[in-house]
Formats: sequence, C-alpha cells, structure tokens
Amino acid sequence: MQRMLRRWAGKRSWESRWQSTKAEGARWAWHVAEVGNEIRRNVEDGWLEPGMRVLSLGCGDGSNEAWVAGQGLTIHGMDFSKSAIARADKQYADVPGLSFSVVDVTKPRAHHAEPYDVVLDRGCLHEIAPELGRMYAANVKRWTKPGGSLILIMRLEGDATGQRRLQQIDDLLGADFKLVDWDNITVGGEHGEHGETIDGGMFRLKKR
Ligand SMILES: C[S@@+](CC[C@H](N)C(=O)[O-])C[C@H]1O[C@@H](n2cnc3c(N)ncnc32)[C@H](O)[C@@H]1O
Repeated sequence: MQRMLRRWAGKRSWESRWQSTKAEGARWAWHVAEVGNEIRRNVEDGWLEPGMRVLSLGCGDGSNEAWVAGQGLTIHGMDFSKSAIARADKQYADVPGLSFSVVDVTKPRAHHAEPYDVVLDRGCLHEIAPELGRMYAANVKRWTKPGGSLILIMRLEGDATGQRRLQQIDDLLGADFKLVDWDNITVGGEHGEHGETIDGGMFRLKKR
C-alpha cells in the first residue's frame, strides 16, 4: 500500500512539473538544451560508442537522448511522465535511432526488450523512493546485457555524499554490477533561473 502511494505521489509531482509552463524551454538547473557535459564525456572516453543500443531511464523531454542518437547510437528513452514523453516525441520525431515510451522504471517487469549495451540514468535513481529501489534494480539487471554498462548520474547534496551514494549503489546493484569508476561532476548551469549548478556524481558500472 505504502509502495503504491509513494509511486503515485512521485508520478503526480513529476507530471505536474512537466505540464507546467516552466517546462517550456525547461528552466530547471539540471535541464540542458542540447546535452550534459557528463554525457558528452561518455562519448569522448568510449563508454558510449556508435552502434551501441542504449536505454535511458527517466529521460524527461529527451534532449540528451536526441544528442546521443546524433552520435550514431540507437537509444530508447523512458519516463513515467506522459507530458515529458509527449514533449520528447514532438520535439525529436525525425531523429533516426531515437524512440520514447511512457514507463515507470520501478514497475515489476516493465519494458520488454533485448538487453541493452548501456543503461543510462541521468537524475532518475535519486528520485526513487527507497522502498522502490529493489524493483528499479531488478529491472536494471534485466535490461543490461552481460558485460554491458550502467551509467548513473546522481545529485550529491547534504547527507547524500559520494560515499553514501556508493553505499546505496552497492546495496541495490552490487550483486550484479561492478563499479569501474566514479567522479564528482557539476550538472547543469545552462538554464537554472540564476544559472545555478548542481553538485553531482557520475558512477560507471559493468554488469558481471
Ligand atoms: C531530474 S529529471 C531528469 C530528466 C532527464 N534525464 C534529464 O537529464 O534532463 C528526473 C526524471 O525522472 C523521471 N522519473 C522519476 N521517477 C521515475 C520512474 N519511477 N519511472 C520513470 N521515470 C521517472 C521524472 O519524470 C523526470 O523526468
């Protein structure tokens, strides 16, 4: 019951954000018109390579995904907000290799597809209520092929230090994924109301 309520509340809150006028030209600090620097970095250092199939969790309005598709990868973006996916579909309808669907990544056995080379999460896991984390992890395990990559971009603030995130990641995913590297990053700064940025961490794992 508590799980259902948390899921519903989270979804409703994001839906109203994506419906709001603020979402027109999105003005949240984490939002990028084209692509986040940390996503670009994954192309530069070979974690994202042309020809790979990528699944993006909590893709929002799809700007990062459209850029990744433009680099020659095939990418499917999923978000539980219908308004976010409607924006993504409308804005990027003509981009080859790019598709979107409305999916709650914490729903058991959500989204059936061949496992992907890379699962990408920019800002979704840290939004998920702790009691739904295991469902998220079970899906991520199923969606990633053996030897495939998991790239997690998470907010670091207050108690959520890099070490705490490492612990959280290990608790949820450590049985199936091995941490390769992680780094402090600065997210956004492009559209924030006052150009503000967010302290974040990028955690890169390989499926065992
Ligand atoms: C901080 S935003 C990041 C959006 C996008 N990845 C970006 O970087 O611009 C988090 C996104 O995760 C989505 N989200 C949160 N919980 C989700 C869930 N359980 N299933 C699918 N999407 C979810 C929200 O609707 C929102 O679009």
